[in-house]
Amino acid sequence: MLDGRRGVCDRDKGLCCRCHVSIALDDLLFGFRPAHWVWKPLLKRLVTGSFDPLVMAPGETGVPAGLQRFGLYLHVPFCRNLCPYCPYQRVEFDAALFDRYETAAHQEIDLRARQMAESLSVSGGERPRITSLYLGGGTPTVVPQALAGLVAHLADAFGRPGDVCVELHPSAMDDECLHLLRAAGVTMLSIGVESLSDRLLGLIGRSHDAATAEDAVRRAVALGFDSINVDLMFALPTQTLDELDDDLGRALALGVDQVSTYPIFGFPYTEWGRRLGQARIVRPQGNLIRKMLDLIRRRCREHGLEQCAVWSFLRPRRKKFSSITRHHYLGFGPSAASMTGSQFFVNTFSVQEYASALPEKLPVALVLPVDRRLEMAYWLYWRVYEMKLGRADFRDLFGEELDAVYGRLLRLLTRMGMTERASGCYRVTEDAAYWVHRVQNEYSLNYINRLWSQCRQVAWPSEVTL
Ligand SMILES: C[S@@+](CC[C@H](N)C(=O)[O-])C[C@H]1O[C@@H](n2cnc3c(N)ncnc32)[C@H](O)[C@@H]1O
Ligand code: SF4
Repeated sequence: MLDGRRGVCDRDKGLCCRCHVSIALDDLLFGFRPAHWVWKPLLKRLVTGSFDPLVMAPGETGVPAGLQRFGLYLHVPFCRNLCPYCPYQRVEFDAALFDRYETAAHQEIDLRARQMAESLSVSGGERPRITSLYLGGGTPTVVPQALAGLVAHLADAFGRPGDVCVELHPSAMDDECLHLLRAAGVTMLSIGVESLSDRLLGLIGRSHDAATAEDAVRRAVALGFDSINVDLMFALPTQTLDELDDDLGRALALGVDQVSTYPIFGFPYTEWGRRLGQARIVRPQGNLIRKMLDLIRRRCREHGLEQCAVWSFLRPRRKKFSSITRHHYLGFGPSAASMTGSQFFVNTFSVQEYASALPEKLPVALVLPVDRRLEMAYWLYWRVYEMKLGRADFRDLFGEELDAVYGRLLRLLTRMGMTERASGCYRVTEDAAYWVHRVQNEYSLNYINRLWSQCRQVAWPSEVTL
């Protein structure tokens, strides 16, 4: 029996000295607001080379002719049931609105493909390789045939992608849908199980029960996709360590390749955020998250899974499912983001406005010009999340040495025990995983929350300062 009141380091004697120091530091850095005024600008300066705010505004967008490879993303913003904690752009399914979305998404693909063909004919360059296609939502399979049609169109317009990855909801993946996905070329699945406790699923407003989720995963595993990930959320309101332990044991027994575990995060603009107020949900108790993370690590390791990102654990030699492994990518659909290396841009979040804008114009709402240093910072942010900073990858992308650009920061982090130099890369240590999560929480609030909440309020914002 696990005791949730005690520390993660020594269950019999309580917290050790190191844990006390670490918790005090946590409270100071993240709980004491004035401390933010000091460390946040310093960290920003160290990573991006500037103290200046980032300003996103309307503008023209394009795909640079020199790109050799990039990923594709398609956002399907419809769900049959809207979960109150969900921060993603999605609306309740409506057949007429879905039809407008589907038509517009095909038009957006055509427009962008034509723009790229024109730019390649001017530059005389080669068509870039499509590394992967990621289908996210919302619930991408809300109308499976429509999804298959969009996947085929994207492959036709930009070239066959490497892996095709899709997010699945346990209630929207019957056998017919799974066979259709296989036939459409989908290779990797991620299933939003969230918990296997009916009590907690009800509490967080999910529309499925545990038996439906387990059955969905078993049926998917039996079909032999290249990789299957299961999402679990933890630090759910009133969730005990024993309940999390039960979730982990049952999910791991299903024979999946990867388990991703996210502490539930309260974006202030979500239904939960508005109902409960920012102060109560923004910051889950640090110590509880540590204990839960410790438990997750132990259970995954006992089942032979290794940590492959801050919150993900993978079976050896299996393919990692990740929405953030592509450095350059082009997004389609309402709220989809794109990163081309010289620009980061987002489409309008409004499904109606997205459909009305097309086919006359691309539905891009806001653009951020990206300079070299900012692009490096973007790379660093996501590679830290993946816990591995490859030197060759950095050199390949930027033509410079990782140590020449970030040597000072990496030496400092290595001295603090957060990173370690390994062959060909820097590895983020397991101890640092918790701190990465804490810093990313703050950045989610500063950047993602600010951008997404304003884009949800206004379809075409005149400017957003981050
Ligand atoms: C787009 S959803 C998954 C696909 C599908 N819509 C579903 O809900 O099953 C992606 C994942 O993000 C995670 N997630 C969603 N909202 C979250 C929140 N507020 N905090 C932490 N994780 C969250 C969940 O684990 C979820 O499975
Ligand atoms: S968590 Fe998934 S099913 Fe729930 S509203 Fe968000 S995208 Fe839709």
